[in-house]
Amino acid sequence: MVSRLLEDYAGEEPLLNRELARLYNACRCDEPWSQRSMDVEDVRDMFASSWFEKGMVAVVVIGERAAGYSWVWKTRGGLEASLCIDPALPPWSRHEVGHQLLRWIRRRLDAVGGRGRVSIWGGYRYGYIYTSLCNLLNTYVVKHSSTLMKFGGRIVEVEPPKNCRIVEMGEVPAEVLKSIVDVHNDAFSRYEWHTPWSVEDARRYFAKKKPKLFLALVDEEVVGYAEILPFRAVDGRTSVEVTVLAVKSKYQGRGIGKALLSKATSYLERSGMADRAFLVSVAGLESFYRKLGFIPWRESVRFIVPASSIPLI
Ligand SMILES: CC(C)(COP(=O)(O)OP(=O)(O)OC[C@H]1O[C@@H](n2cnc3c(N)ncnc32)[C@H](O)[C@@H]1OP(=O)(O)O)[C@@H](O)C(=O)NCCC(=O)NCCS
Repeated sequence: MVSRLLEDYAGEEPLLNRELARLYNACRCDEPWSQRSMDVEDVRDMFASSWFEKGMVAVVVIGERAAGYSWVWKTRGGLEASLCIDPALPPWSRHEVGHQLLRWIRRRLDAVGGRGRVSIWGGYRYGYIYTSLCNLLNTYVVKHSSTLMKFGGRIVEVEPPKNCRIVEMGEVPAEVLKSIVDVHNDAFSRYEWHTPWSVEDARRYFAKKKPKLFLALVDEEVVGYAEILPFRAVDGRTSVEVTVLAVKSKYQGRGIGKALLSKATSYLERSGMADRAFLVSVAGLESFYRKLGFIPWRESVRFIVPASSIPLI
């Protein structure tokens, strides 16, 4: 059956959105307990979000079904892309869909400029996305980008430093929102993949997801926070993720990050939210998380691909 490429897809077709959710879940079955399952509403919300721009998404359609899709987005570090191909397709068809998406990524890269290379999200090393990309690409460098870490069940008690206290929070009052966004942007600005968060982004996120927050206060100033979020995993059960741990750069190295994570893990046990909890550590921070009871589980990678190695036809 002939495939067609929908460039500039912006979520217009509810049936296709359902297909995108199906593909997203199917491509993330290597560790289904650590992957949020997507439904059609999540896909619709993504297209409606403030950061979405036309030209970011392309979908390959075969008949009525989505066979694969790709997202591209620009960061300080250049063009980032992710790509998903229906694992249920026969291998030759998967290959063709992958090449269609790669050619589209190459054209996007040529259109937006950049450093002549693209960084493609590769999932877990040796997982489905990883092996698909190894089969599709000729020239690339694989870079360790993060580590999935599983909570081992042993809580390490750490008290905050003297002048600091930690408070738990369910709902975020408007006056606290801006302080949280400031901590977030200050702490994460060191990473080239970081795109600054606006107060409006944060308001929408907290209203929808309702995460549990732990704030570190020094003289009533919010200087750090940890966030935990239960969610329905791809395997249908509930998991909990420590989604954020951030301390303002000025206050780092004083034991605040450790105390925040310690509070978050003891809350996990107290509340019985779920019997499986994890976090995703950026590369290099694994030893920090290991000290607080998390066990390295899977390595995630990025493929750094020179544009010139992707044929346009
Ligand atoms: C990671 C972070 C939350 C740690 O908070 P913190 O208050 O600085 O950490 P603490 O003072 O409690 O703990 C310091 C310990 O962490 C280690 N650590 C902190 N940052 C580190 C880094 N970038 N790489 C390696 N180790 C690090 C220190 O070596 C120290 O170890 P020690 O106690 O054995 O000496 C903070 O540095 C931060 O906000 N970073 C930017 C955002 C970020 O990367 N968040 C985590 C994403 S997964």
